[in-house]
Amino acid sequence: MNRRDFMIGGAAAFAGSALLPRRGLADVPVLYDWRAMPPTTSKDIYIAWMVTNRGEDPDLLGRRYDRFEHMVGHRDLFTDRDKRAFLMTPREEFCLEKNLARAYDRDFLDIGYGVTISGPNLVGRMTSSIDVQRGDKVLEVGTGSGYQSAYLCNLTDKVWSIEIIKPLAERTRGVYDKLISRGYTEYQAVTTKNADGYYGWEEAAPFDKIIVTCGIDHIPPPLLRQLKVGGIMVIPIGPPGAQHVLKVEKKKGLLGGVRVKRSDIYRGSVVPFVPFTKLEGDEIVGTHNQ
Ligand SMILES: C[S@@+](CC[C@H](N)C(=O)[O-])C[C@H]1O[C@@H](n2cnc3c(N)ncnc32)[C@H](O)[C@@H]1O
Repeated sequence: MNRRDFMIGGAAAFAGSALLPRRGLADVPVLYDWRAMPPTTSKDIYIAWMVTNRGEDPDLLGRRYDRFEHMVGHRDLFTDRDKRAFLMTPREEFCLEKNLARAYDRDFLDIGYGVTISGPNLVGRMTSSIDVQRGDKVLEVGTGSGYQSAYLCNLTDKVWSIEIIKPLAERTRGVYDKLISRGYTEYQAVTTKNADGYYGWEEAAPFDKIIVTCGIDHIPPPLLRQLKVGGIMVIPIGPPGAQHVLKVEKKKGLLGGVRVKRSDIYRGSVVPFVPFTKLEGDEIVGTHNQ
């Protein structure tokens, strides 16, 4: 049976369009295994392996595989671990139902509340750029749909993610909890909270890697402080709607100090991002731009 047949229909979901509850989907049939690598010898072999091991929909798996080939061609996935993370993460689970057929399109998609899920190529390139190793502590600022952190869970088992929009943070927590109960045990690695990510997550710091998915005109000093020496952050920096995605490496400097090396992961191309907004009390008021 097609997975769509399982869904509770009615795109008349409330404004902000919560993900519709997906009822009765098969549990993940095989226990999560860090060593398991989906085969990529052909699309059909990939789909067959994923259906057997992950119980996912063949049509969407085919779209995921097509996007995978495109991303490999565009050098968005650097290592076999990055490739595995993309191939193992069901992006469709984090998209609104109205966008299911577009889940593997290149572009960003609406997720309600005026924000978006970044396109898969961008997620792949940004995540590959921080070179996450198993066991790394990774902080994400801007949980949004939850896709980015789910993807990270296929690279490490220690992920923290902060979302500023309270109902979105709650909705996404619910998505993780449902997926975990269906057998996506790898998502147990994500700890989430609703807060202003400008200040990072002091109690969980320091982090080996930080990924920021909203755009700002400077590197938030608390995030740089919470990054370990030897750590890497990827962050969209620039004026509203015209950021450059920077890789920021915090290195040991001469004479025991610290130096920060910046490079542009798109070699100068501008990439527009959702703004890095600011919380005042319980209200989102403006942005952190200076
Ligand atoms: C491009 S979107 C989401 C991308 C997300 N990583 C995903 O996989 O769907 C950026 C997110 O950053 C959030 N955001 C903006 N400013 C924030 C802040 N100060 N702290 C935490 N999250 C913030 C937005 O609400 C939005 O959900």
